[in-house]
Amino acid sequence: MGSNDHYVYAMQLVTSASFPMVLETVIKLKVLEAIAEAGSDAQLTAHEIVSRLLIPNKDAPDMVDRMLHAIVEGGVAYEKVHGILTFEYSTLDATRKEAFNNAMLNHTTIVMKEILECYNGFNNLESMVDVGGGLGITTNMIVTKHPNIKGINFDLPHVTRSAPFYPGYMAYFDSFGIKVNTILE
Ligand SMILES: C[S@@+](CC[C@H](N)C(=O)[O-])C[C@H]1O[C@@H](n2cnc3c(N)ncnc32)[C@H](O)[C@@H]1O
Repeated sequence: MGSNDHYVYAMQLVTSASFPMVLETVIKLKVLEAIAEAGSDAQLTAHEIVSRLLIPNKDAPDMVDRMLHAIVEGGVAYEKVHGILTFEYSTLDATRKEAFNNAMLNHTTIVMKEILECYNGFNNLESMVDVGGGLGITTNMIVTKHPNIKGINFDLPHVTRSAPFYPGYMAYFDSFGIKVNTILE
């Protein structure tokens, strides 16, 4: 098995956690029993399903309703359920912010290592901007391998403020265009 196969297998393990988590929640809440008890011809709304369950959360009908709408209409399910973008939510919860940014950094490190081994498109570049570059690992890896490139990492203010200082030709800008931290020359 090559390293690429190992990577694909690892990503399958990570993402495969979503389905069992959803299934476990559905089983614990007895959603399937509620639908079955209504009979095969019943077409329950989200509110009717939730009213048959013993869920104390008064927001549950709306949450289920919004999740079902997200599935039917498309769009960002997280925003429809919570009324706020996942990136904005991170500003309200420091633990979540740190976990999310580190998860991105570790995932991207694995992917970028593979890309930089086989991609030649950076060879003749003088500068680059990574929009939504998180903690800056992608820019750092590119400018480390190609020191001729001036790299700019661009992200939301609460992300760029937490970004580490990397040696090399690299700067951070936030989404207001403010230079946060730089040794770019
Ligand atoms: C999926 S993460 C990817 C992070 C990074 N590219 C990496 O691979 O580690 C998406 C990034 O986009 C950033 N982002 C979302 N909305 C943004 C905006 N309006 N302006 C700048 N960055 C934004 C988020 O803060 C987050 O760091």
